[in-house]
Amino acid sequence: QQELRTQALGRQLFLFAELSSTNDRIKDIVRQGGEHGTVVIARRQTTGHGRMQRAWESPEGGLWLSLLLKPRLSLGDAAKLTLSTGVALAQTLQDLYGLSAGIKWPNDVVAQGRKIAGILGEVAGEWNTVQTLILGIGVNANFSSRTLSSKLPATTLRDILGYEVNLNHLAAQLLFNLEKEVQSLEQGDVQGLIQRWTSFAVGINQPVRVERAGTVYAGIFKGIREDGELILDLEGQEMTFSSGEVSLRAG
Ligand code: ATP
Ligand code: BTN
Repeated sequence: QQELRTQALGRQLFLFAELSSTNDRIKDIVRQGGEHGTVVIARRQTTGHGRMQRAWESPEGGLWLSLLLKPRLSLGDAAKLTLSTGVALAQTLQDLYGLSAGIKWPNDVVAQGRKIAGILGEVAGEWNTVQTLILGIGVNANFSSRTLSSKLPATTLRDILGYEVNLNHLAAQLLFNLEKEVQSLEQGDVQGLIQRWTSFAVGINQPVRVERAGTVYAGIFKGIREDGELILDLEGQEMTFSSGEVSLRAG
């Protein structure tokens, strides 16, 4: 906490040896009136959640962190905060370890073609009344990806760097970069966010396959719209997809 250089994010910080899920813990804190910027970190999670009701393996050595935000944003703009988080994460891995991390739409962070971090954004309660957003961030850091039972290609900072990183530094830099992103969005700079996101995006202008409700669309990945939807070029005809409904593969 002494390493924090933020105004709000992480000023209220709870650290646990073990939790079922930091996102679930922070939901309790929301109910108790938790303040903007509250952070929960667990050394390990027993039932971490990924997107689309998947399990997230969270052994000791990872950074498992959830953040409570009450941003001064409309619901539509607040949804962009998952994009902001991807940018902040990729930027942090570059700042601290010189890693050229990329973002796989919508918000997987990848390094050397494998998933190194994930983001789970959730809205807590009624947006109109409380305006509370939960951002869960998982970074595979100080453990070997061989310990994961995940079938998808995953990697860890230790696998790539060959040494163990300081998780406090990592959390502090991430919160610092994320606070800058939140502020820039609150100032209305959506264009800047889309630009930064695109500069980290993997697969732009390349062929991809998007699967939605059993149908596969093969086209060229053109980028994202201001609302975060993926733009696919199907031989001159553009289609857009929202992150909740599709999966994306190279192809
Ligand atoms: P199912 O019951 O359908 O198998 P599940 O809830 O067990 O679903 P998985 O199918 O295992 O979940 O999916 C979890 C997803 O998250 C997978 O894509 C897996 O590869 C990935 N995953 C889980 N933990 C990690 C991690 N720490 N790093 C990278 N990827 C992970
Ligand atoms: C994904 O890529 O599917 C999202 C993974 C998000 C994992 C993090 S770890 C901290 C927080 N607590 C959870 O249970 N999930 C998120």
